[in-house]
Amino acid sequence: MALWGGRFTSGSSSMFKQVNDSLPFDQVMASQDIHGSIIWSRALNKAGVLTDDEQAQLEAVLSSLKQQAEEGTLDFASSAEEDIHSFVEAALIEQLGDIGRKLHTGRSRNDQVATDFRLWVREHIESLREDIIGVIRSLLSAASRHQEAIIPGYTHLQRAQPIHFAHWCLAYVEMFKRDLSRLDDAKKRLNQCPLGSGALAGTTYPVDRDAIAEALGFTSPCLNSLDAVSDRDFVLELLFTASTSMMHLSRLAEDMIFYNSGEAGFLQLGDSVTSGSSLMPQKKNPDALELMRGKCGRVFGSLQGLLVTMKGLPLAYNKDMQEDKEGAIDTVNQWHICLCIASEVLDSLQLNEARCREAATQGYANATELADYLVGKGIPFRTGHDISGQVVVHALEKGCAIEDLPLEDLQSICDKIEDDVYPVLQLEFGVNQRNILGGTSKETVTKALYQELEALDKLS
Ligand code: ARG
Repeated sequence: MALWGGRFTSGSSSMFKQVNDSLPFDQVMASQDIHGSIIWSRALNKAGVLTDDEQAQLEAVLSSLKQQAEEGTLDFASSAEEDIHSFVEAALIEQLGDIGRKLHTGRSRNDQVATDFRLWVREHIESLREDIIGVIRSLLSAASRHQEAIIPGYTHLQRAQPIHFAHWCLAYVEMFKRDLSRLDDAKKRLNQCPLGSGALAGTTYPVDRDAIAEALGFTSPCLNSLDAVSDRDFVLELLFTASTSMMHLSRLAEDMIFYNSGEAGFLQLGDSVTSGSSLMPQKKNPDALELMRGKCGRVFGSLQGLLVTMKGLPLAYNKDMQEDKEGAIDTVNQWHICLCIASEVLDSLQLNEARCREAATQGYANATELADYLVGKGIPFRTGHDISGQVVVHALEKGCAIEDLPLEDLQSICDKIEDDVYPVLQLEFGVNQRNILGGTSKETVTKALYQELEALDKLS
């Protein structure tokens, strides 16, 4: 039964139903839709549109439908209704007849869907926050398990300077903290209630919009009815936050795929998050990480898709906007799965600290230390940089590390170099020299790690 049959003399074509119906996907908002309807019935009662008895009957049926929605027992599959709003209204009419027909007084599916989807996004923001906190927890736990470990730090994927493994973990913690704050911001902006805006121009019934907003947990009603029914910024903000966070997950995945490679060999991934090859018996592939990286495509696509859909839409509601849902629902699912799998990967990884140390020592990653040492001997940094470069060339020719060159060789390049250079060239020396806020020294990293562990409790 369509909600708008009176104006029509013939029914919809089956192809039109395929393009028009949203019940196959907007059924995920069943519980939010019903909750909104309960609050609307109370508002209509206070406004004198529904009697106490009518409202009580509506609320009883709606509450039972809500329970069925939450138990997953509503039968959407055999329904021919257009969307979740008509599905619920049809169920009410089936059980209550004319009383069911009164609920939509003063309301439009336009303010209804805008309200339902805000409620749905808001609920998912809460659960996604917990997922992100889970990743932060796993990163901090990996950092705590390997506080002494030193890995090569890279720029241009060339070994650059050694860093603590915990410093690498804490870099990702910063990214996920920003994702959390983006979600919190998005929630603040979405938390206005469209209900009472009608189709586009507001409603003639004297419902108390402040009370409706409050009952639905919003901070205030939306202030303009045209904007209220046509705004989908809250979906875009969710999709942008998801895209940014998926980009962070993808970079984390890429780092770990490389660290796990035979060439790097810094870490091993757990059996529970890897798969084998059907042909090559020796293979253990980082599929979970590759999918964290790969799923960025569809998530970024959903953001782009909705931006393009919204661009150029005239005020107020247009059916184009129904296209906001499938991409957002998929994004929330994929982001949730990827955050959970990232935690599992981090919790199950085995770091090969000896191999990390060996790699951090190789590749002339202490050449900056030599340049800084020369600065300490009164040489300008640019000159010291040049001298250190010449030392690297010399060591490359001899096929050894800088610290393995005899003093005479070093002095033949620069006579300011003395015996005290050798401790400076040791791995820990350079790392621990970076004892500045945000740097990679043991002291700074340990302090940062404990601060983050302490802050973790306040995040949830
Ligand atoms: N299924 C629609 C959507 O998701 C609900 C709103 C329909 N409104 C309308 N005027 N046809 O956007």
